[in-house]
Amino acid sequence: MNRFSECRPRLFGGSRDEEVESRFPLAHADGNAQKRLLLGYPINFNSPPEAFFRWREQLQNKGIGRFAWNNGGNPYQPAPVSYNSHAYERELIERFGKIYRFPAGQLWGFLSNSGTDSNMQGMYMGRTLLKGRTGRLPKCYFTREAHYSIQILTDQLGLESVFVDTLPDAGLDPQDLARKMAANRNDPVLVVATVGTTFKGGIDRIEKIQEVVQGQPAYVHVDAALFGGYLPHTLFAPAVHYTGGEACRPRYDSLAVSCHKFFGFHSPAGLFISSKATFDEFNRLFSRVHSPEYIGHVPGTIACSRDAVKPAEFYYYSSPEDLARQAGEVKVMLGNTQYLLKALQTHFPQLLPRRVNEASNIVFFKQPAPWIVNKYSLATMKLAGVDFAHVVVMPHVTQSVIDEFLSDLEEGSHG
Ligand SMILES: Cc1ncc(COP(=O)(O)O)c(C=O)c1O
Repeated sequence: MNRFSECRPRLFGGSRDEEVESRFPLAHADGNAQKRLLLGYPINFNSPPEAFFRWREQLQNKGIGRFAWNNGGNPYQPAPVSYNSHAYERELIERFGKIYRFPAGQLWGFLSNSGTDSNMQGMYMGRTLLKGRTGRLPKCYFTREAHYSIQILTDQLGLESVFVDTLPDAGLDPQDLARKMAANRNDPVLVVATVGTTFKGGIDRIEKIQEVVQGQPAYVHVDAALFGGYLPHTLFAPAVHYTGGEACRPRYDSLAVSCHKFFGFHSPAGLFISSKATFDEFNRLFSRVHSPEYIGHVPGTIACSRDAVKPAEFYYYSSPEDLARQAGEVKVMLGNTQYLLKALQTHFPQLLPRRVNEASNIVFFKQPAPWIVNKYSLATMKLAGVDFAHVVVMPHVTQSVIDEFLSDLEEGSHG
């Protein structure tokens, strides 16, 4: 103590343990009653296996996460600062690139801060490429089922949004896309296709989009924030494959997947992957707006400094043993989704329960009593003037929690 110390700001009077306890009264390292009941948002609250924490410890023993490591720059270029995890970042992208059927060695990508961040990269690349090819800014086409971040990003990029109608399964209506494109025939076309729309779980059919945009200057970015994590382990994997069809042709230009959604990574992060040819064309144009002098190369990414800890940690999720664990979780998760749907259809048909396709882990229904919405943190939305809610059956959602939810619906329907 000295005569100035009483002027120091004091955040809390008790011990450090008491302070942490007071700030996070509900949290507990191994889980708590609260998180098992979170049904309304696409976050997997399961903790990864112990092997992940051992891997993390190994990384920390090497100093990763103990001081200011930085993945600034293109992970495929020599780095200006040697304390980076570019090698793991590249390997991670190569491993997931293989899962999404990008040709080996012909892809580019990085680990971003989130699905939104990956969407920003994809939409910026599309905008830059199309402007470079045609001299005109594209119009940005997406449906009202797309995540709200797409509207923010369109605004940020100074692009005009063109809303495309949806089909009854919540996927983009290709005929309406054709109509809307015809009304804007002089402008190049940036399509943001969603594989797994946020509220309903709709899937935009990329083949149909490609048929419509064929012959036009176009770029298709795929937002597979949630579904991109688990579809590769299912029959529906082709929906997120980069190449497909008999000719094994590219189906889209870039892909965004969130790491904290299906994978349950402890911190927001996103995968961004495009082909190398797409990236190279973009980066040549990018070099006109970005001087390479400071770091010795044109980075390709919008952000300068990037986290080095997350790519090294998330690398664990690309390991064969963890992919096998994820495949098991997907089976249970989709089984539980079907269980919830069937129970709702059987016992609560008045709630109009719906799952728009068999690949989806989302069931939506008429909004129940407010105490049920609160207890399970359900996301709600008005659809055609009627209040709806949804359950996203993530890997932490067990059949016993679904049963508890169904009992509460029963109780709520009497109240
Ligand atoms: C389809 C879709 N895209 C993008 C996002 C945003 O992802 P993030 O939270 O990783 O920024 C979400 C989030 O729910 C989403 O559902």
